[in-house]
Amino acid sequence: MTLDITHSDAWQALLAHRQAIGSKHLRELFALEPQRFEHLSCRLGDFLADFSKQRIATETLPLLTALARAADVEGWRDRMFAGETINVSENRAVLHPALRFMGTGPFPGPERDVMPDVRAVRAQMRQFSERVRSGLWRGYSGEAIRHVVNLGIGGSDLGPKMAARALSAYDHPALHVHFVSNLDGAQLAPLLETLDPRSTLFIIASKTFTTQETLRNAQTARDWLLAAAGPENEAAALARHFVAVTAAPAEAGLFGLSHDNIFTMWDWVGGRYSLWSAVGLALALAIGMTQFERLLSGAQALDKHFQEAPLERNLPVLMALIGIWNTNFLGASTLAILPYNESLRSLPGYLQQLEMESNGKMVNRNGQPLSCQPNPIVWGEIGINGQHAFFQLLHQGGWLIPSDFIVAATSDYPLPGHNGPLLANCLAQSAALAFGRTEAEARAELELEGRSAAEIQEVLPYKVFAGNQPATTLLLPRLDPYHLGLLIALYEHKVFVQGVIWGINSFDQWGVELGKKLAGRLLPALEGTPDDGLDDSTRGLIAYCRRHGQL
Ligand code: F6P
Repeated sequence: MTLDITHSDAWQALLAHRQAIGSKHLRELFALEPQRFEHLSCRLGDFLADFSKQRIATETLPLLTALARAADVEGWRDRMFAGETINVSENRAVLHPALRFMGTGPFPGPERDVMPDVRAVRAQMRQFSERVRSGLWRGYSGEAIRHVVNLGIGGSDLGPKMAARALSAYDHPALHVHFVSNLDGAQLAPLLETLDPRSTLFIIASKTFTTQETLRNAQTARDWLLAAAGPENEAAALARHFVAVTAAPAEAGLFGLSHDNIFTMWDWVGGRYSLWSAVGLALALAIGMTQFERLLSGAQALDKHFQEAPLERNLPVLMALIGIWNTNFLGASTLAILPYNESLRSLPGYLQQLEMESNGKMVNRNGQPLSCQPNPIVWGEIGINGQHAFFQLLHQGGWLIPSDFIVAATSDYPLPGHNGPLLANCLAQSAALAFGRTEAEARAELELEGRSAAEIQEVLPYKVFAGNQPATTLLLPRLDPYHLGLLIALYEHKVFVQGVIWGINSFDQWGVELGKKLAGRLLPALEGTPDDGLDDSTRGLIAYCRRHGQL
């Protein structure tokens, strides 16, 4: 079996198929297949994924599933769930499914069972979150905790932040959770102004405990808290107001944290797959451990589906294959994530890291260059806001832009007269993108409005919509922890399947190294140490910052 999937017969068959049907319009595809929704939508319980507005014909899916088989997706899936070292460049297993394994037995198996550790941290999270939420956990002056600030970045921020926003309807009424990731003091400083140190708890979330942004923010928070507590309360202030989530407990100890205040994670959890670990502590504090475990159960249900469903009805496999069809065969270079629920506003940012940090690579897992373009550029925004901003380009801008429309059928904040129009807009947009408006239809509408022939001639070109923009619609009955867990795990496994097909190790991220290293070199130059090795542009920019900046 070749690692370069583009040499496989399955890939070649898809190229030929693309020649045959690539230009077919979605209107035509729907006309050819009256039961298209039935054939191309897939359910898992009451979760629904509708792929019928994707530009695929009846023969496309069998050809795509043959591609998945040619890449041995099932074998790689089983190797991941068996705890094999599939993250080869970092020599690690990939075991985030263990974090949402809710069974009582071992995982991945009796020979290597990570569950005792996982369950111990879950128990620690439960005990801690119940004490904080009930007011039993007190600050250095005896006050209950009212505000929790998660200090983390990347996977130590995006997952818990996205989920906390998505599930805000489940929040504890008197406990407010905040997320700070940016080195720019404009995020932490105004927040601190609103907080009372006596009732504020900081979570330092960093797998490595070496991340500059997080450690700087943690140091500033520590200074702020200790200044308020006074030297006489220093030990209590640290013990009552700081906890850490990390795979480097010794480093957290050096920061001044006791063993009891450290929640462990492991090298087999990737940062962007860590929401399910104690990295989700801020979320567990906000919604309670029972709801947090419902999130885990939803993800576990998707894991089970991914392991058991045939490729032809396997949701993450289908999503992955359709993404590959759009990227590698139809030529799309982006994917728009369009959630319609306000609570999902942080989903596009979360998925950007999940997709682009995982599969934004041109080197395969054997260190050879890829011969096809992998992950598209993922971007997005709340759909209803996007309609009044960038949708114009989706409708008439001429680019091929596949999108994922995501919406919950019921709202957690049911204001009369809001949810129906929200759903109508979501469904209308994917239909308008798919089917567009022909010249004949536009003309007929204008005639119906009573416009003159001259007027019609003038406005007609503006009224035509090419359509044929592919979209998947993901429908949740409601946005509760269970369905959110399922949705996130769906994207995780989609990314995994795509990585397998492209031949990528989706679990390393060497591309983030260079910039970090350069930033370390530039700081002394910004502070005045000459560095003749720098390029002309960087030297010029440094000169500007030294003249105008505050370092
Ligand atoms: O720089 C990228 C990255 O390593 C991400 O992969 C990770 O999620 C983030 O930084 C934060 O890392 P840590 O949790 O170790 O602070």
